[in-house]
Amino acid sequence: MDKLPLTSQDVLAEKIDLMRAEFPEVFVEGKIDFERLKMALGEFVDNSRERFGLTWSGKGEAIRNIQTPSQGTLLPVPEQSVHFETSENLILEGDNLEILKILQKSYHGKIKMIYIDPPYNTGNEFIYKDNYHVSLNDYLRYSGQVDGAGFKLSTTVDTDGRYHSKWLNMMYPRLFLSRNLLTDDGIIFISIDEIEVAKLRLICDEIFGEENHIADLVWQNKKGGGNDAKYVAVEHEYIVMYAKNELALHHLFEPYKPEYLQRYKEQDTQGKFYWDTFKRKSGKQYYPITCPDKTVLQFDEYGNPISWLRSEERFKSDVEQGEIKFVRVSNKWSVHFKQRLPQGKKPRSIFFQESIITDKGTTSAGSGQLLQLFADNVFPNPKPVDLIKHLIGFSTQAEDYILDFFAGSGTTGQAVLEMNRETGSKRKFVMVQIPEPIPNPDFPTLTELMKERMRRVLSLHQAVEGIGFRVFKLSSSNFKLWNPAVADKERLEVQLRLFVNNVVEGRTALDLVYEVVLKSGLPLDVQVAAVHIGEAVVYVVDQGLLMVCLQSAVTPGLIQWIVEQRPLQLVCLDRAFMGRDSFKSSVKVELESQGIEFRTI
Ligand SMILES: C[S@@+](CC[C@H](N)C(=O)[O-])C[C@H]1O[C@@H](n2cnc3c(N)ncnc32)[C@H](O)[C@@H]1O
Repeated sequence: MDKLPLTSQDVLAEKIDLMRAEFPEVFVEGKIDFERLKMALGEFVDNSRERFGLTWSGKGEAIRNIQTPSQGTLLPVPEQSVHFETSENLILEGDNLEILKILQKSYHGKIKMIYIDPPYNTGNEFIYKDNYHVSLNDYLRYSGQVDGAGFKLSTTVDTDGRYHSKWLNMMYPRLFLSRNLLTDDGIIFISIDEIEVAKLRLICDEIFGEENHIADLVWQNKKGGGNDAKYVAVEHEYIVMYAKNELALHHLFEPYKPEYLQRYKEQDTQGKFYWDTFKRKSGKQYYPITCPDKTVLQFDEYGNPISWLRSEERFKSDVEQGEIKFVRVSNKWSVHFKQRLPQGKKPRSIFFQESIITDKGTTSAGSGQLLQLFADNVFPNPKPVDLIKHLIGFSTQAEDYILDFFAGSGTTGQAVLEMNRETGSKRKFVMVQIPEPIPNPDFPTLTELMKERMRRVLSLHQAVEGIGFRVFKLSSSNFKLWNPAVADKERLEVQLRLFVNNVVEGRTALDLVYEVVLKSGLPLDVQVAAVHIGEAVVYVVDQGLLMVCLQSAVTPGLIQWIVEQRPLQLVCLDRAFMGRDSFKSSVKVELESQGIEFRTI
């Protein structure tokens, strides 16, 4: 019987499967034979000793870190959420490396846009220390969820001369894993300043591919002052922009400002337009146009030939398509055409302070917006909401997922909520943030502050029905993990006893259901309904796509009911079939004959 895997998606295995599909000849007894691979790749192998690329201390370990699956899960926290049942926005509390690993299956290829504002490596920021084989434990210790709280946070202070290396080791696996989550036409935006921009570009070229670099946007984040700078007052930072796959990227257009749209008052089946004059002051498209009363327009009042906007051929087809009208004012004819609303304006690479995009604001504008909500300086240097709204505006559409895995005070969440309110869209945010302690009596951690910010923004929006956010917290799995390394007989017996009930104490049914949701590859914003069948409860996920039954004993009647509902998958507890092997086999046969995938946990 198939068991539901408890660890996160094996990222390496997926790539090896791709290799196996394309190069079956290089696999020998399940492993890749490098010599054969070299032969298979022919001219494409670079054998030279000097190669282009960025390397640093710990890069190998950073790559191995990607390959170590997470054994964690995300526990729902409905009491800290707003409209938990209906909301599609997510706040995920915990270390983003673990969480990105956990999301690999459920959010693979689903995120349209990622915006991140990681630590800039200024030397005194909080950077969570990754230790790849014990990272979840470290995190749990740090966040006080297991004994031994008070785990020391590492900063990037340059005491051991590995200043850039530490930062790159932190960024590399996170960027790598985040790429898997992007849709094929997805985009990532990364805020960064002078300190790390050059190294960031190099690792992004490696992870996303040089050909997918779209632009380094320049944002004027400061204005005025600056005379205390050593040499040059730097007033800008960057937003590095990569596509998942440049070939699949759609055109990017900034939404029009309402003032601009005002001219386009008319509308037909093809969209908005206004009537504009067909006669041009310059140009060389001369030809006679015959008006409805046979008047011919060819020369102006000075006898000069009239030039028209389009060629004679195009004019004729425009007439046929109803794109042209003749207007007679005080006995004089003029020709008008439908000036159609262009698709949009291409985004510009420089976000100037004083240009049309002044409203992107500066860093101090970001602080001002938070101050408005909290009447206190609760977080240093948040990004301005308008800056993120601008990026969201030209890179996403109506129902897209937007991810920020260095979410800080939650500016991205506010930008998404405001954008939805202003445009009627249903964009969804996923924000990941570690519960970094902050010196604030009301909000001991940054995640508490972020949740409160979202509540306040929502209450400003007069709580549109059902809109809110779901909070989840990173934790160890709800299920005790079988440790295959246990060799001696005595300990093996202890394990066997433990696994009679493999559910960790103190976990709720909802905790278990969401772990099954994640590990079955469904997103965390799915609908979950508890359905009572006699004494038993069945959790119906995503309108019946998946059913989760947590009864410690399953009856034939219950199985019959489930079969009648025709889910695609059913997950039950292992112990529900304890000592009933033949019943288990018959259930499996029955379900599979009905096309229902059956797994236990
Ligand atoms: C520059 S701030 C982001 C500010 C945000 N853009 C805003 O407007 O409020 C970067 C954030 O990343 C968080 N962070 C650092 N390492 C993290 C990790 N491993 N997992 C999750 N969050 C992390 C820090 O706590 C910090 O709040």
